[in-house]
Amino acid sequence: MTASQFPAKVKIVDVSPRDGLQNEKQLVSVADKVALIHQLAQAGVPNIEAVSFVSPKWVPQMADGLGVMQAISRRPGIVYSALTPNMKGYASARQAAMDEVVIFGAASEAFSQKNINCSISESLERFREVAQSAAQDGIRLRGSISCCLGCPYEGDVAPAQVLEVVDRMSDLGCIEIDIADTIGVGTADQVKKVFDVLLRRYPASRFSGHFHDTYGQAIANIVAAMESGIAIFHGSVAGLGGCPYAQGASGNVATEDIVYLMQRMGIETGIDLTRLAQAGAEISRVLGRASQSKAGTAWLAKQAAAQ
Ligand code: HMG
Ligand code: MG
Repeated sequence: MTASQFPAKVKIVDVSPRDGLQNEKQLVSVADKVALIHQLAQAGVPNIEAVSFVSPKWVPQMADGLGVMQAISRRPGIVYSALTPNMKGYASARQAAMDEVVIFGAASEAFSQKNINCSISESLERFREVAQSAAQDGIRLRGSISCCLGCPYEGDVAPAQVLEVVDRMSDLGCIEIDIADTIGVGTADQVKKVFDVLLRRYPASRFSGHFHDTYGQAIANIVAAMESGIAIFHGSVAGLGGCPYAQGASGNVATEDIVYLMQRMGIETGIDLTRLAQAGAEISRVLGRASQSKAGTAWLAKQAAAQ
């Protein structure tokens, strides 16, 4: 394997203000959410998944999305994204002037029912209206597919099931589609298999890797995905995150760990690792627990020792 097989540059999407915080039982204040988003922007993160506009009964932590978006100072050039499961969510995203809306479905029926209370095909019908409105309003549309490498209720998920949802989301106009390992069970060979199937029909630039790190496989999975040509990855600072409807799943891979990997491999991200690690340390302080990012913790310790 030579370095030339890896991309020269990757796009990092930090999802900590949304995926990272949505599972927190203690409500995090608007001010703390705004501070996190500002710190990510200052670190140079080009795309921040800032909020979700979902039912507050389903995910109370995300109920203040509009307040958060109204309170942030936006940095030009950064894409601020929101999850929007239906037209109600889309209307809020529009009011919040989001740059990108995300329709989120699943490759497994059981997870679709548990997470968004409808079947896969019903969800895609709901998304159609969101997709049409986003196209009319000139808002970027992304799709996210949960359980691409395994489901907490159904177990194994075949790449063909993922392809079916990718086809439908592409038809709806998604210009980017997240291949998500919601419960962090996938391994590098599975990542290769799923992308082998998807890349027979679509360009690699259509996909991102959204890997949770429950079994510590996410960095290996990112490397495997890069070998397949994927160059967009999601992470959460401090390794925060989890889906309330995926029991046992832990956080997203830490963004600091991804950026450290890329930095050492000479792959450009445009992100300042020190500032990013400080953002991870700060939100960990707010939440009253240690950061789960090994790279972020080691990087800050090294900087402190050097002073
Ligand atoms: P439902 O109960 O079937 O929907 O939920 P409904 O249309 O019957 O509405 C029920 C109530 O919710 C109504 O209020 C609606 O107004 C309200 P009531 O009349 O009872 O007072 N409502 C809303 N309120 C605000 N914003 C909205 C909205 N929609 C309805 N958009 C629904 C269906 C999809 C709304 C619900 O199941 C839901 O909100 N689910 C979201 C679950 C969620 O956010 N999960 C986590 C994000 S996904 C994830 O983490 C995975 C990802 O990271 C990738 C990966 O790792 O796999 C993306
Ligand atoms: Mg997730």
